[in-house]
Amino acid sequence: MDTDFDSMTHPDYPTLFSPIRIGGVKVANRVCHVPTDISSANADGSVNARVIAYHEQIAQGGCGLIIVGASTPDKATGRPTVTCLAVDEDPMIPGLGELAEAMHRHGARCAVQIQHPGRQAAWPRTGLMSASDQLVDLPGSAGHEVVYAEAQAKGKAIREMGVDEIYGLAEKFAEGAWRVQQAGFDFVELHGAHGYLIAQFMSPYVNRRTDRFGGSFLNRMRFVLEIMARIRHKCGRDFPIGVRYSGEEWVDGGRTIRESVRIAQLLEEHGAAFVDISAGIFEAPGTVMDPMYYPQGWNTYAAEAVKKAVKIPVITSHSLRDPEYCERLLAEGRADLVGLSRQMIADPHWANKAYARKPEEIRKCISCLVGCWQESLMIKRHMRCAINPAIGDERFLHIARAGARRRLAVVGGGPGGMEAARIAAMRGHEVTIFERSGELGGAILCCCVVPGKNKMKWYADWLRLQMRKLAVEVRFHASPEPDALREFDAVIVATGGRVARPSIPGIDSPRVVTFQDVLRCHMTKCEFHPGDKAPPVECGASVLIWGDHFGAADAAEKLAGQGKQVTLVTEHRDFALWMEPCHRDVMLKRFRQGNGEGLAGKPFPHPVKVVSRSTVTSIGEDGEVTLMDAAFTKSVLRADNIVLASVEPEGGLYGRLLEAGMRAALIGDAARVRNLRAAVTEGANIGLTIDADLQLNANRALVSNVPTEVTL
Ligand SMILES: Cc1cc2nc3c(=O)[nH]c(=O)nc-3n(C[C@H](O)[C@H](O)[C@H](O)COP(=O)(O)O)c2cc1C
Repeated sequence: MDTDFDSMTHPDYPTLFSPIRIGGVKVANRVCHVPTDISSANADGSVNARVIAYHEQIAQGGCGLIIVGASTPDKATGRPTVTCLAVDEDPMIPGLGELAEAMHRHGARCAVQIQHPGRQAAWPRTGLMSASDQLVDLPGSAGHEVVYAEAQAKGKAIREMGVDEIYGLAEKFAEGAWRVQQAGFDFVELHGAHGYLIAQFMSPYVNRRTDRFGGSFLNRMRFVLEIMARIRHKCGRDFPIGVRYSGEEWVDGGRTIRESVRIAQLLEEHGAAFVDISAGIFEAPGTVMDPMYYPQGWNTYAAEAVKKAVKIPVITSHSLRDPEYCERLLAEGRADLVGLSRQMIADPHWANKAYARKPEEIRKCISCLVGCWQESLMIKRHMRCAINPAIGDERFLHIARAGARRRLAVVGGGPGGMEAARIAAMRGHEVTIFERSGELGGAILCCCVVPGKNKMKWYADWLRLQMRKLAVEVRFHASPEPDALREFDAVIVATGGRVARPSIPGIDSPRVVTFQDVLRCHMTKCEFHPGDKAPPVECGASVLIWGDHFGAADAAEKLAGQGKQVTLVTEHRDFALWMEPCHRDVMLKRFRQGNGEGLAGKPFPHPVKVVSRSTVTSIGEDGEVTLMDAAFTKSVLRADNIVLASVEPEGGLYGRLLEAGMRAALIGDAARVRNLRAAVTEGANIGLTIDADLQLNANRALVSNVPTEVTL
């Protein structure tokens, strides 16, 4: 039943917050959580408290339609992640029912996405099935082995499914949909995107069959249409079915937008209630999980093309972050709903904050993929987020005030230090940040100036806003020693890392600079650099970057973008093996003078060269750099500048504080050089630890709330 408030128009986002009917079901607004497998279910695929907490947050956050991530119809033959949800047994129904209720009670409508991973199964790891026999290596997929090198060497053997097996699995999809309906969900969605099993059948690139399930367009569509027919038979015609698929596969011989428009028309004819237009297959991982390089809404053209050809609602997704941008694309009629996955992970209250006209409060996802993908699903863990510590850790959802107000010093105003300050200040502590430079942001500030990585600035801006709102005192140009910190109850050392300067001949040459010198912001009006900073170092035409760290990658991108001849020297077997694979895939394509699929332009005029398994042994006056490889063979290279890009922890203050008998904690790169997620998680944890009875335990870690009988 439509209600009076349907006619209420939001002053800033009238289309975003207008209702829509999908398959006869009314959805309160146009904000959709596109399916996200959070890999946090129980080992048997049943719902647990963590799965409910995640989805309930998003419903409470004002999202109109929530599509629960990939849920397997047959866990014996394929789970997309090791702890995905399962819909393959009736005992799953009660848990799914609680999940639906948790979303319904906050006004959201909800669906479950049913997916069989086929060749991309994370579990089991052998006996994988697909439309066709293949040997395929898919770095970037969660079904990819943890050790990429090994996987690359072995590939994954995949067998073609028999016809009986196909019909049997179609029946299991229908059974799964029936369970979803029994549990009280409003819709079911079929996952035909990203190279998972349905997509494997639909794809002209993957599907090499010659029987009735391969070859022609209709034959390739037969599997998904068969599943839809069986669902309707089991669940009735009124239970709405949506289908997600990729507008383009972004691989040679793959599907392009032309056929995707035909698919939408065919699905509509066969009764689909909506289509959800995604991108890519894992041969082009950057299009499935678009890294930082991809601009907001780059994939919306695909939904737009489909929308022109059908009457059913069309969802668009990929790198949508600003409510204003989303409003515009909906108002222009390019899609019917905006689909947000990672944005909901970074901030489940996205819709509420836009609705309350406080868009600046949104913690915008920076598309780093480190927490939600690389360090969780890819390595078979529950999902986390680099910038939202509450994901997978409910201690951060409702932060209680501390037992007593403490005075807390945070030394270092990078992301870890600011996150520690934020959580501690929310708990009522009085917090002072000491920052050695003239601005807050730490290592993030280097990334902001790298073309394609300026989304990092969103997070720096958000943290700075929180510091202001929480009245955290900031003392700039300050590097205090223990004596100056005695007035504080505890000190958090978040001093980050410093550039390593190995003692080799020529290290003090004026040609030698650091990645920080190169990545200094040069925008005169940039708020990060109010003018009290030296400009970035301008390098000569040829540059050798020595190191294998974020700083090395970022300096290479900036300098190559300026047209320099860049050579990277790494002691490892290849450069940036630590990097999130979708980012690495796109970065290496750029190094080879290409770009990520779907991205316009070739950003570098010269290729970036990588010299692996090597180190620098000396630097001559004239720019002659001597390299030595793993076989002790020496070679010489000429470079106008040498950029030092190895980082080591700078946590000496911590030891001095402990020696002075003070309570201290060491977090982030200052403890061990890692990444943003490590710094933010450790910052959040220590912010939550500081309490009335703060003590140092035998590990020299700060603890509080120990049992009453214990005094340390
Ligand atoms: C951790 C994670 C899990 C995902 N799980 C699914 C899934 O189960 N089904 C699906 O269709 N897409 C899945 N995706 C893709 C997202 O739905 C989305 O299309 C993609 O992340 C790009 O959109 P975004 O920028 O809003 O995140 C997942 C993405 C991430 C990061």
